[in-house]
Amino acid sequence: MTTNTILSGDRPTGKLHIGHYLGSLHNRVKLQNEGKYKLFIMIADMQALTDNARNPEKIRNSLIQVALDYLSVGIDPAKSNILIQSQIPALNELTMYYLDLVNVSRLERNPTVKSEIKQKGFGQSIPAGFLTYPVSQAADITAFKADTVPVGDDQEPMLEQTREIVRTFNNTYNTNTLVEPKGIFPPKGQGRLPGIDGNAKMSKSLGNCIYLSDPEDVVTKKVMSMYTDPDHIHVEDPGKIEGNTVFTYLDAFAEDKKMVEQLKEQYQAGGLGDVKVKRYLNDVLQEVLKPMRERRAEYEKDIPSVYQILKDGSDRANEVANQTLSEVRSAIGVNYFDNLK
Ligand code: TRP
Repeated sequence: MTTNTILSGDRPTGKLHIGHYLGSLHNRVKLQNEGKYKLFIMIADMQALTDNARNPEKIRNSLIQVALDYLSVGIDPAKSNILIQSQIPALNELTMYYLDLVNVSRLERNPTVKSEIKQKGFGQSIPAGFLTYPVSQAADITAFKADTVPVGDDQEPMLEQTREIVRTFNNTYNTNTLVEPKGIFPPKGQGRLPGIDGNAKMSKSLGNCIYLSDPEDVVTKKVMSMYTDPDHIHVEDPGKIEGNTVFTYLDAFAEDKKMVEQLKEQYQAGGLGDVKVKRYLNDVLQEVLKPMRERRAEYEKDIPSVYQILKDGSDRANEVANQTLSEVRSAIGVNYFDNLK
């Protein structure tokens, strides 16, 4: 039996938040603990640099925070390899070969990249590395022959691009070296967690996040300030559930679905105040976050040991990626010295 291989990752541009947890971290931990997969979790610092080249300090500082986020949610270095993208040189060579199999207009059509370009306001000055990051991401995935990629919904275009590259590569060089990956996405309707202000997206730039590393009192304050139904003014007024962030979060995080249904009924009928629902949500979230906070505190006591975990993961990753690279070189025929003694 062949074991399945998982590759996933995040850009270290800031601390991870509960939207990341819901979107993919949760899936990764679950898959890790099923014990059927070989896992590679990548901190994609080079991808983060594609639009932060002049601010490398931010990436350097975020990298250790993301590592702590991973460890705190239960990514276990004894079961999973946590690695740093820039420390795996084979990825760059793979990217160069793949770039020759992709055309520029295909890159310009990638919907996620398109919306990022708009949102980041590059205008005419799109960094070339940014436009091509989906190709580098294809290298991330294929270097490990990953068949399974647990990610948020916005990453589907990267997987599509990767599958195209895999097919083109294998056809062009008449090989079966590269493996087509499939994505694992969050359950329908839970793809994206809104911000605490009700904005459709939880994002650092909007300042509407609950971070995995937020202390207890900060979480409480954020929950108590959350956007609900603006027309629900008096406790006895009937309230709306749709677009009510507090209920969206309860749907996502509360284990006790019956309780949530009861609260919803009561809220819609009138007679249930926002504060009560928020207190319940606060309890629910604190219960999710508490074990993370405790694990984080342990690892924070010894940051060099966290870097050691990243080095060990990167070392193991290099072994696999170098093997794939050597197969890729042979497939293309740039393995000139293989037969020399
Ligand atoms: N693009 C991903 C993000 O923005 C990060 C990433 C880089 C990634 N390489 C990857 C995700 C490979 C999955 C597989 O979150």
